[in-house]
Amino acid sequence: MKNITEIIRGIHYVGANDRTTHRFEGLWPLPYGVSYNTYLIDDEKVALVDTIDAAFSERLLANIREIIGDRKVDYLIINHMEPDHSGSIHAVRQAYPDITIVGNAKTLQMVEGYYGIVDKTMTVSDGGTLKLGARTLQFHFIPMVHWPETMVTYCAEDSLVFAGDAFGTFGSLDGGITDMQLDAGNDTSKYWNEMVRYYSNIVGKYGVPVQNAIKKLAPLLPLKTVCPTHGPVWTAQFSKVLDLYDRMSRYEPLEKGVTIAYGSMYGNTEQTAERLARELARRGVTKIAMHNLSSSHVSFVLRDIFRYSAVVIGSPTYNTKLFPAVQSLLDDIELRGIPNRTFTCFGGFTWAGTAAKLLTGFAERTGWDLVAPAVEVKQGYTLQNTDSCNSIADAIVAKL
Ligand code: FEO
Repeated sequence: MKNITEIIRGIHYVGANDRTTHRFEGLWPLPYGVSYNTYLIDDEKVALVDTIDAAFSERLLANIREIIGDRKVDYLIINHMEPDHSGSIHAVRQAYPDITIVGNAKTLQMVEGYYGIVDKTMTVSDGGTLKLGARTLQFHFIPMVHWPETMVTYCAEDSLVFAGDAFGTFGSLDGGITDMQLDAGNDTSKYWNEMVRYYSNIVGKYGVPVQNAIKKLAPLLPLKTVCPTHGPVWTAQFSKVLDLYDRMSRYEPLEKGVTIAYGSMYGNTEQTAERLARELARRGVTKIAMHNLSSSHVSFVLRDIFRYSAVVIGSPTYNTKLFPAVQSLLDDIELRGIPNRTFTCFGGFTWAGTAAKLLTGFAERTGWDLVAPAVEVKQGYTLQNTDSCNSIADAIVAKL
């Protein structure tokens, strides 16, 4: 029986799953794990496309040997230098001392900077090619998706692209490798939610470069197979993935709905958030994502802000500023340059309120559409002092 790791004839998956790392990049939780995808092309010449996190070097080498035995690997093609993919370059060079490391000028500078390797390298240009035998690989630079050196490797004979971080997602590969083997086309599969979280957190700042990459890859379409560095290999589902990446990189909301994110010290600001959510639900809004920023990791909040068309943020005044977790969220939003959302806000205070003013200032800076004035709640929550939640809910629903 054909090994499931042979994606198409002569192209093998030799990557690994990581289900134990708690935080990707030291920042982002991995509740469903992550895969580090590495591919082996077995042609007259053998080429490895990217490597793997250093912790998985031995597994990578064992996977390669399982396919080619004692034959050597001729080329290591580096599409992306971030250490989750480049961390095993040393181990691969040690196992295959004659291997030629293939990358563009920026890549090879980073190979030297990270790993001190300067010999047996091959510099490729944008559009340059490398013949392996029956296949000829072509390199296309897609800078800032997600580092400046990033490129993709195209194989016209197989209508296949090795895509780097583009079109990736969190989530381990549980058994299968391709979308069809993993039932990843199913809307309830973990990959779609995790793709939005992966994109919004890792690549979300680089919307313009992702749009440039999509335009640059357009002449290669339709593609039969797309091999990203994380998540399933895309075949039948690629058009859905491309559409999702296109919309997210335009910062276009994916659905009509509301993200409510708030900080709260003693529950009063939280009760305002609860009331507003109820008022929205009473008006028929079913897609409401609520995040208490003391317990929700910001990666999930950013995912929902990318997903939904409206955002409401609430904060107590804290040392004359915003609640720290709220300020941190605003910084993350501004860093990603999300240009448009329907927005309103609410603030709580005891003796001198600044939160509502600061949140209003955020709307002015980002250009978000402030559809109703901020609600300010002095001291304890009551139904009466939050009555303007009605008009806020009306204003949001009118814009959904
Ligand atoms: Fe999966 Fe940008 O590295």
